[in-house]
Amino acid sequence: MDSVSVRLMQEADLPSAERASAVTFFEAERSTRRVSDPEAEPRSAVVSKQWIDRMRFFLSVDPGGCWVAVEKETGSDRSDRTVGFAISQNRDRLWFLATYGVLPSHQGQGLGKRLIDAALAHASGRPGIFSSSVHPGATRRYRLAGFSLHPQMRMTGTVDRSTLPAIGGLREGLADDFEWMDQLDRDLRGAGHGPDHVHMLATLRLVVSEDREKPGYVYIDDQGRASLLAAAHPETAQRLLWEALASSRGLTLVNCITTPNHWAVDVGLTARLDIGQEGYIAVQDMPAPAPYLASGHFL
Ligand SMILES: CC(C)(COP(=O)(O)OP(=O)(O)OC[C@H]1O[C@@H](n2cnc3c(N)ncnc32)[C@H](O)[C@@H]1OP(=O)(O)O)[C@@H](O)C(=O)NCCC(=O)NCCS
Repeated sequence: MDSVSVRLMQEADLPSAERASAVTFFEAERSTRRVSDPEAEPRSAVVSKQWIDRMRFFLSVDPGGCWVAVEKETGSDRSDRTVGFAISQNRDRLWFLATYGVLPSHQGQGLGKRLIDAALAHASGRPGIFSSSVHPGATRRYRLAGFSLHPQMRMTGTVDRSTLPAIGGLREGLADDFEWMDQLDRDLRGAGHGPDHVHMLATLRLVVSEDREKPGYVYIDDQGRASLLAAAHPETAQRLLWEALASSRGLTLVNCITTPNHWAVDVGLTARLDIGQEGYIAVQDMPAPAPYLASGHFL
């Protein structure tokens, strides 16, 4: 591994880092897939573009948390080829890891440790959070770095529409809502999402609680999945999750449910979704947030 260097990511690394990410997660999905899971599929062009856009955004907000492991190509241009990446960000007093991987051909040789050490040094002692896969190398690495691993539940299936309640007290969210949303984020996870709200609102539907005494919000993707949900009270969180489920079409997914978030399990079971387990929320120096469903990308 002497030929591999770990350095800060630059804009020019984005296409090569995206390829490394696509290969790494495709292989990880294949190797950790359960018999009942659908076959792993290669990343689509749309998802590749979203990945690059999101990493460009992270680079523009907090470049000091974005690290790559690179080796020199042997071809004529001798450009760098990305073989690993650890993309982390600081927001106020919180550090989060957005994505992390090493190409299968380069795993188990200490590169993952070098990358996570670089990203963690950027945290400068801030509490930290991220969503972890079940990959044995990943969970080993995280626990060795001092994180607590909180098992996550996930619910899948098609919503039984006869179970949908009438939901009141919600409205579409706007950029004007970000200030109180950031305050709610601070109460739940110690830091506002700040610029991440701007990025999410550009691509996701935002629904918020009308009652400022019981604030809450949810970002819903184009398939009706709750991508990030935060609320001051479990009842508000439940109404927001019902709103997401009501807009789902076909198979849906509710992800990142830790044990302090059984309010979400109760909604999913009423909607006749199936409950299972997948991965961990990893935290250091903070509790697993609740009532809260983390975003895998923005935590
Ligand atoms: C997690 C990951 C980045 C670690 O990278 P890496 O270069 O393999 O990491 P390292 O070699 O520094 O260390 C991994 C540790 O796990 C061990 N390990 C690696 N692969 C393993 C496996 N399949 N089973 C058990 N242990 C494994 C290594 O021996 C090492 O432990 P040690 O330092 O005590 O010897 C890499 O495995 C990966 O990309 N996994 C797939 C994608 C993924 O799950 N990313 C995390 C998303 S949250």
